[in-house]
Parts: sequence; structure tokens; C-alpha cells
Amino acid sequence: MRTKQLGKSDLQVSVVALGTWPMGGSTYGQVDNKESIATIQAALDAGINLIDTAPAYGDGRAETVVGNAIKGRRDQVIIATKVGVVRKPGGKWRDLTPASIRQQIEGSLRRLNVDTIDLYQIHWPDPDTPIEDSIAELVKLREEGKFRYLGVSNFDTGLMDSVTRMTELASLQPHYSLLNREIEKDILPYCVKNQIGILAYGSLGSGILAGKYNEKPVFKPGDTRHNFYRFFHEPMWSKAMRLVDVLREIASNHGKPVSHIAINWLTQQEGVTCALVGARRPSQIQENAGAGSWTLSDAELKQINRAWEHIFGGNLDA
Ligand SMILES: NC(=O)c1ccc[n+]([C@@H]2O[C@H](COP(=O)([O-])OP(=O)(O)OC[C@H]3O[C@@H](n4cnc5c(N)ncnc54)[C@H](OP(=O)(O)O)[C@@H]3O)[C@@H](O)[C@H]2O)c1
Repeated sequence: MRTKQLGKSDLQVSVVALGTWPMGGSTYGQVDNKESIATIQAALDAGINLIDTAPAYGDGRAETVVGNAIKGRRDQVIIATKVGVVRKPGGKWRDLTPASIRQQIEGSLRRLNVDTIDLYQIHWPDPDTPIEDSIAELVKLREEGKFRYLGVSNFDTGLMDSVTRMTELASLQPHYSLLNREIEKDILPYCVKNQIGILAYGSLGSGILAGKYNEKPVFKPGDTRHNFYRFFHEPMWSKAMRLVDVLREIASNHGKPVSHIAINWLTQQEGVTCALVGARRPSQIQENAGAGSWTLSDAELKQINRAWEHIFGGNLDA
């Protein structure tokens, strides 16, 4: 498994990392906790060392599953969880007020059953709380030993500036894949320049880039994938299918699964520390982990970029 250093931290992260949104179950289709635990353990067995989770994934369900899965293996795992999205009457809300942050981290530590979190990430900005107030509380919590490194997710460069004026920022978790290259405009160069690590999410386009679908899926009501990932809708869907055909061809030349091509394109981009890949079953993560043991050639990276330019017209917002 290839590894990379996360930003300026001392964390050495496997380039393929496991995301646990699907294990929350509530908004990502049906899931079975035993299968989830087996998937996390299969990830560790396959050389993956970073598990990304959040209290928001199934209102704590995914964190509890992670806590159960890593019993006796704490030293093999970098635990990355999040703060800032909480369940309140009427749905989920952003809350980065200092008192709520303190409450949220205690909940995460309890569910994960650990003394400290390795990477604690702000999940989404909270427009109603000054970022300085949130960061001041997070710095206190880090000094108290509740977590080791601070990260953010879904932040723009201006917000990251506000954080780095106050403290060290280890990482950003943005949406980034062959189906969403928007961060290449300014966020990715900013992170490279400032040595902020990148944990890319949606790496497989929610399964599309693994070649999972031949037809547009119909999700059940309440399944967030329908809204969260816009490439399940036209005109993105047909373009995505054309791109997957190119990935299929390269995969077949190597005798490798299609998922490897999408993951390796991502992990070979300058600045990307790891590709977070969601999985629900051990077989999926065992397959995906294999991408960490080889790389695409420069010619293949160029071929993929040329195909992307042709299909999406070079539009990073496509
Ligand atoms: N910070 C944020 O705001 C944010 C937002 C989104 C995601 N994330 C994080 O990033 C992680 C990754 O994103 P994601 O899980 O949404 O999407 P993803 O990694 O692009 O896709 C995951 C889905 O792809 C399918 N899949 C995975 N491996 C496969 C394989 N080998 N063959 C066929 N299908 C395969 C599975 O679908 P099925 O389950 O249907 O089988 C799986 O649930 C999340 O789990 C979460 O940790 C963070």
C-alpha cells in the first residue's frame, strides 16, 4: 500500500482510505452493522490505515460501528471524525458554537471508545457562528488532548485563511473526483502551497466510477445520494457513462477493476493525500485497496485527462 504524509502532520496515511457514510445507513440505503464491522476489519487487513467517519452518518451509528470494529487494533488506525452537523428538531443543522463543539467531541469519543481522535475535522462551515470562536474552542480541546490534528471539510480558501491565522491546519476534505474537479481552480493549489493535506471524498462518484452502474439507478425516497451527487442526473449522467467507458478500457489493459483507475487518477494528483472510498461490503474495500499497490503511467493519466476534456469540455464546474 502506498502511503503519504498528511500535510505537515506526522501522520503517514494509506492512499486508499475508508469512508463510512454508507455505514450510517439512514440516508445511503440499507446497511447491516455486522457487515460494516467486517468491512472495516477487511480494510485494515488490506493495509488501509485511515477510517473517516462523522456523527452525522446515521446520527452516531457509523461512529459506534467504527468503535466496535477497531477494538484491540487501535494502534493500526488513524481515526478521522468530524464536528458541526447535529440532529435538532426539524432535521440536521450546522452548529459550531463552542458549547456544542465540546458536547459533540465527548459524544464522538464515547461512541468511538477512544481517548483521543487523530484527525478532528469541521464537517461544514456554520454561517451563524464566527469561525474564530469555533477555532478557539477547538484549540483548547486539542490542548486537553481530545484530538491530535485539526482538519476542515467543505471550506473555501478564505475560511482556511481564517483558520491558519489562528492555528495549524493539517487537512482539507473536499469533494474531488473525475466527476467533480472544481477544487482545481483555487482550492487545490492553495492546499499544495500551504502544505495542507487533502482527503478527497466522493472518489468513486458514489460507485459510478467503479463501473457499478450500467443504468441510472432509482434511489428510494430519503436516499441522499439522489440530491448530493448531481452526476446521477442528466446531462452529467450520460457524460459520466462515456468517461467510465474510457476507464473500463484502461482497466482491462491492466486486468484491474475499474475502481482502481478512478482511485489512482485521484491519488496521483499533486496535493492529494488519499482517496476516501465508501464501502458497504468487505469485497468492495478489498478490491479498492488493491489500487494502492500500483500506479497509472503518465501516458495513461494524459489519456484520461484528454477524454475528460473532450467529454466535459474542460469545464471544471461541469
Ligand atoms: N465531508 C463531507 O461532506 C463528505 C461528503 C461525502 C462523503 N464523505 C466521505 O467520503 C467517503 C466517500 O464518499 P462516498 O462514500 O459518498 O462515495 P464513493 O466513495 O464515491 O462511493 C462509495 C460507493 O461506491 C460503491 N462502491 C465502492 N466500491 C465499489 C466497488 N469496488 N465496486 C462497485 N461499487 C463500489 C458502493 O456503493 P453501494 O453502497 O451502493 O454498493 C459505495 O457505497 C464517505 O463515505 C465519507 O466518509 C464526506
